[in-house]
Amino acid sequence: MKNLEKHIRERRSVRTFNQRVLTKEDYETLCTFIKKVDNPFGLVVEFCFIENMNCPVVVGTELYVGAKVKNSPYLNEAFGYSFEKFVLYAQSLGIGTVWIGGTMDRTAFEKAMNLKDDEIMPCISPVGYPSEKMSIREMMMRKGVKADERKSFEEIVYLNDFEHPLNPDDAGDLFLPLEMVRLAPSAVNKQPWRMLIQNHFVHFYLERSKNFGGGKIDMQKIDLGIALCHFEIMANDLGISTELIIEKPDVYAKKELEYIASYKLNG
Ligand SMILES: Cc1cc2nc3c(=O)[nH]c(=O)nc-3n(C[C@H](O)[C@H](O)[C@H](O)COP(=O)(O)O)c2cc1C
Repeated sequence: MKNLEKHIRERRSVRTFNQRVLTKEDYETLCTFIKKVDNPFGLVVEFCFIENMNCPVVVGTELYVGAKVKNSPYLNEAFGYSFEKFVLYAQSLGIGTVWIGGTMDRTAFEKAMNLKDDEIMPCISPVGYPSEKMSIREMMMRKGVKADERKSFEEIVYLNDFEHPLNPDDAGDLFLPLEMVRLAPSAVNKQPWRMLIQNHFVHFYLERSKNFGGGKIDMQKIDLGIALCHFEIMANDLGISTELIIEKPDVYAKKELEYIASYKLNG
């Protein structure tokens, strides 16, 4: 994707659409894209468009994209990674989306997606062209979760151990991939990702927020999948190759921190 950094910086959740139906060209471009979205967990995330649907927080479009994945380990991280790739691709075409994991009639969407017993549909998103003006409800929602704010770099990135926050000026080539994680969307804007840099590895941890218990559908593990996506695609864009490895490092981490996965950087 061209201008990746720009698209990540400019993306925001869109809940107010301008009623215009997607052009045939945009619809077909997205259809082609959703057939080949991958993730480093090797799980198949199956996307489909659903028409004539509604969500309480969304106005101005009835077209949605849903995605489902077989019940398996790392389903949330894989889903987060793949779905965010879709979100960013839509952004690059000027198409708005918003991750919806809670504020929907889940039964209706699962039925529309023809969900089977061994499948999970964690989130969906409306698709359409953003309206110039946000609905009052959307403005209030954004205010409620401080959607325009993010934690500082030092709050989420550490060097060698969790005692040493990393100053962004000392992050070198990794600054941009890590900064792209910092700007990512997350459920209720909790930003639960923490990154620990050690030698040629970047380890990703989840700092679980209160009242976000992990179930089969685990919104905060989805957030970690989004973080992995932003990191990997930005690093690759800069010519840094990455390999996903799941091997917990031998480092002290407080009990709220759960190890998720690491990227080995290969130059
Ligand atoms: C996994 C996930 C689930 C989300 N679920 C909802 C939801 O149910 N309803 C909603 O209005 N926004 C939802 N959001 C959007 C977040 O509130 C939003 O990304 C966050 O506040 C940051 O705002 P931004 O996306 O505009 O940067 C979700 C985001 C993520 C990543």
